[in-house]
Amino acid sequence: MRHICVVGLNWGDEGKGKIVDVLSSGVDVVVRYQGGANAGHTVYIGDVKKVLHHLPMGILHEGVAAVLGNGMVIEPRGLLEEVATIPESAIERLFLSDRAHVVLPHHTALDRSREEDRNGKKIGTTLRGIGPAYQDKSARRGVRLGDLVRPGFIEDKLPKKLAERCDGLDVTSGVIEESVELCRQVRDRLGAQITDTQVLLADRHAAGERFLFEGAQGCLLDLDFGTYPFVTSSSPSFLGVGPGTGFSPRKIDHVVGVTKVYCTRVGEGPFPSELRGEEEESLRAAGNEYGATTGRPRRVGWLDIPALRHAVLLNDLDSFALTKADVLDGRDTIPVTVGYRLDGREIHHFPTHVDDLSRVEPIVEEWPGWGTIDEHTVRPFADKLEEATGIPVSILSTGKRRDETVLLTPFDGYVGAVR
Ligand code: IMP
Repeated sequence: MRHICVVGLNWGDEGKGKIVDVLSSGVDVVVRYQGGANAGHTVYIGDVKKVLHHLPMGILHEGVAAVLGNGMVIEPRGLLEEVATIPESAIERLFLSDRAHVVLPHHTALDRSREEDRNGKKIGTTLRGIGPAYQDKSARRGVRLGDLVRPGFIEDKLPKKLAERCDGLDVTSGVIEESVELCRQVRDRLGAQITDTQVLLADRHAAGERFLFEGAQGCLLDLDFGTYPFVTSSSPSFLGVGPGTGFSPRKIDHVVGVTKVYCTRVGEGPFPSELRGEEEESLRAAGNEYGATTGRPRRVGWLDIPALRHAVLLNDLDSFALTKADVLDGRDTIPVTVGYRLDGREIHHFPTHVDDLSRVEPIVEEWPGWGTIDEHTVRPFADKLEEATGIPVSILSTGKRRDETVLLTPFDGYVGAVR
């Protein structure tokens, strides 16, 4: 097994950060392919908590290169702050795609004002300017990292480009100067790391190196296949790797999908298995379900099999990584949504339209629980999951620390990563 992709199977916050961190010490390059500062990947090294927003988790491992692919949108201030938290020597291992787009202050301002204008119809975005930045990219008027290192761009072309773009927008007059200054800081600090990462990946692949592609968010937030319009503006699924890196997904050997043994969502949009009241409060408290980026309380519910089947198909999934299993320790049985009832009919697929998804009633089954989670006690639950989806469980996470991870199937070459 040479190249692996790790994706979130729900609405984000599945615990991908930890799984990526565990697998990364067995690889040469970790690659982010979409999203930006909306992501918040958390890992505990001993008891020290580390949250990364732009940088792939792999940067925390000595000798592992980190690539921010062309599919990402990069917020200068956030990136510079994160870079300030990693050792100077790690910066040489960081490569930023010259095709990645820059999130500028007018994007953040637009994100905020649109959310305020939506009058009860909010998406519940992270307010990081993600949607407006991708919008400028699609409208072919964005600023790319590669522009920043072109002679004269920041000083001469950027102010004019932004004046044109911001004309008529409800943004403060200072945004142009602020943007110029932020772009200058990125160029001065990280200009040498901005490169053609598609070529870099092709060369390193040819040299026999191993890659790990790190999805951010979750595939139910996929712009095309998620719960549109309550989605993010990129493709967090495996399918996003191609457009987000220029590396052929045909070369990827294994796709690991991360899901908690229950489900969470932040922001608005349908969530069929969502809990209310006391059960909601107690699951949120047990799982400490508060957003890593925004601190918002997460909505919580039970595992949802129709949604997982949708994710299996979308990601051409090979195996599951089950996370936060310890949160449900001590339950005799675990409720799982195995189908829906829509207009009196039983269905087992994940409806495309949010109006349908908002109306479904979950059909709940009780699956076997465990006393204290380990590779043996999880078996009956894992077998039910495999029976329902056709996909085996390969990784079990039993706590927040790196060493609280069990590999149920050998990850050739990656195994040494787990200590
Ligand atoms: P945006 O990506 O900030 O535009 O937000 C769009 C939707 O995706 C909102 O519902 C957000 O809460 C959700 N979202 C974005 N990034 C994450 C993430 O990393 N974890 C969980 N939800 C996210």
